[in-house]
Amino acid sequence: MSRFPDNFLWGGASADFQYEGGFGEGNRGLITADFVTDGNVDTLRQVTYKCKDGTLGSSPLKAEIPEGATGYIDPERYYPSHDGVDFYHRYKEDIALMAEMGFNVYRFSICWTRIFPTGEEAEGNELGLKFYENVIDELLKYHIEPLITICHDEIPAYLADHYDGWSSRHTINCYLKLCKTLFERFKGKVKYWLTFNELNVVKGYAQMGTHKIDSQTHYQAMHHVFVASSLATKMAHEMMPGCMVGTMYAMSGLYPLTCKPEDMMAHMNTRRLSYFYADTMVTGGYPYYAQALFEKEGVVLVKEPGDDDLLKEYPLDFITFSYYRTTTVNANTKLNIIGLAMDLNPYLEATPWGWPIDPVGLRYVMNELYDRYKKPIMIVENGMGEIDHFENDTVIDDYRIRYLKDHFKNMKDAINIDHVDCIGYTMWGAIDLVSLSTGEMKKRYGFVYVDKNDDGSGTYNRYKKKSFDWMKEVIATNGEKI
Ligand code: BG6
Repeated sequence: MSRFPDNFLWGGASADFQYEGGFGEGNRGLITADFVTDGNVDTLRQVTYKCKDGTLGSSPLKAEIPEGATGYIDPERYYPSHDGVDFYHRYKEDIALMAEMGFNVYRFSICWTRIFPTGEEAEGNELGLKFYENVIDELLKYHIEPLITICHDEIPAYLADHYDGWSSRHTINCYLKLCKTLFERFKGKVKYWLTFNELNVVKGYAQMGTHKIDSQTHYQAMHHVFVASSLATKMAHEMMPGCMVGTMYAMSGLYPLTCKPEDMMAHMNTRRLSYFYADTMVTGGYPYYAQALFEKEGVVLVKEPGDDDLLKEYPLDFITFSYYRTTTVNANTKLNIIGLAMDLNPYLEATPWGWPIDPVGLRYVMNELYDRYKKPIMIVENGMGEIDHFENDTVIDDYRIRYLKDHFKNMKDAINIDHVDCIGYTMWGAIDLVSLSTGEMKKRYGFVYVDKNDDGSGTYNRYKKKSFDWMKEVIATNGEKI
C-alpha cells in the first residue's frame, strides 16, 4: 500500500474576502472585491459602481466598468463577502478544527487593505498586522505551516479608482511595500509565499483594478504584475533565506475534442493563453510565442529598462495551481472572456454547477506542469462544490469523499509512479465559504459545514461533515488509506 512522500503538506485553502468577514473592522480599507454582489443563482456576481455623474451601474465581475467610475456599495443589496463566514472572529475555532483533521499546512490570503487601507499609507496598519500575526501564531501552535497568498483577486479600491489599478506602475511600489511589511513582520514564521492567485484568469476592475479589459490594458497591467512578482521574489529571498515563492495558476485541464489537426492547433493555442503567465514567470521571461500573441492582439508593451532582466533573474521557486475540472476545445470553440475554452467532455459527469469531474485529468496536468517547468509543484485548490443536506448536525457527503478519493489516487500515481515532484495539497474551502463565481453559500466545498445561508442568515456555527473523519484518516496514514 503506497503512501505520499514524507513531509507531504496536507491542508486547506481560503481567500480573505470569501472567508474572513470582519468588513470595516480593524481599520480595514475597501478592496475592489467589496463591491461584488451576491448576483443570483443564474448569473455571475456583479461589480456595483458609481459614475462621475453620480449614476449607478453594475457589470459582471470580469467585465469593464466606465472610465472614472468608482466602486459603490448599494445599501439595497447583499454583499456576501462582507461577513464571509466570520473567520475574523472565529479563527481559533477554525484552526483547532484544521488541527484535529491533521492539517500541516493552511493556505490563506492577506486582505491588502487590512494592512494598507488605501494602499498608499507609509506604515502598515497595526490592527491588520496583529490579526494575521494571531492567525499565524495559532497555526504554528498546532505545527501547521502558513502558506500565504499575498494578493488573491483584489486590490485596494483607492488604487483602482485613482490609478486604474495594475495599469499603473505606481501599483508595483504599493504592492512591494505590502510585501516588505509582511516579510519583515512574519519572517521566521512563514516559509511559503504566493505572490498572486490564478493570474491566468484574473481581469478587470474587481480583480486587477482596471476599468478596461481590452488586450492592451490587460497585458500591460500583467507586465506590471510580472515585474512586481519578480521584485517580491528577490526581496523575499534577501529577507528570508530558504523561503519558497510561487504564484498560483488556474490549471484545470484542456483536451482537444478530436485528433483533427485543426482541433490540435486550437488546443495548443488555447492552452498557451493559460501557460503564458507561468511561462513568463518561471522560465525567465516572455515566451517566444508572446510575440505572435501580441501581434495578433495589437498589444505594444511599455517596459522600463531592466524589466526583462528582473523576469530573468528572479523566477519563481515553485508552481502552484488550482484544479477543478477539464474541458475541451475544437477549432470552432468560442473562448470565454478570460480566454478559457469551456466546452464539455462527453465522457465526464459534472457537479450541479456543471463543472466536469476528471480525477485522471489531475494526473495529466501534474505531469504537464512538471514536464514543462521541472520545479516542485503544489495543488493549492481542488474540491467539489455541492449542495449539502444538513441533518442531525452533520452532512453525509459521500459524493465529496468519492471525488477526493479518486483525485488522491491519481495524485499518488503522479507522484509515486510518474515521479512528479509534488510537495502538497490544500483543498479549497476546507471550511465552507462564499463562492467566488456565484456568491452562494449553498455551493459548498468543505469538510466542515457552516450554518450560513445564501441570504446571510444563520448562526455561522461549524459542524463536522462525514468527510471530516475520512480526511483525518487520509492524513494520519499519509494517503495509505484513501
Ligand atoms: C478559484 C478561486 O478560481 O476557484 C477561488 O481561486 C474560488 O477564489 C474557487 O472560490 C472556486 O470557485 P467558486 O466559484 O466555486 O467559488
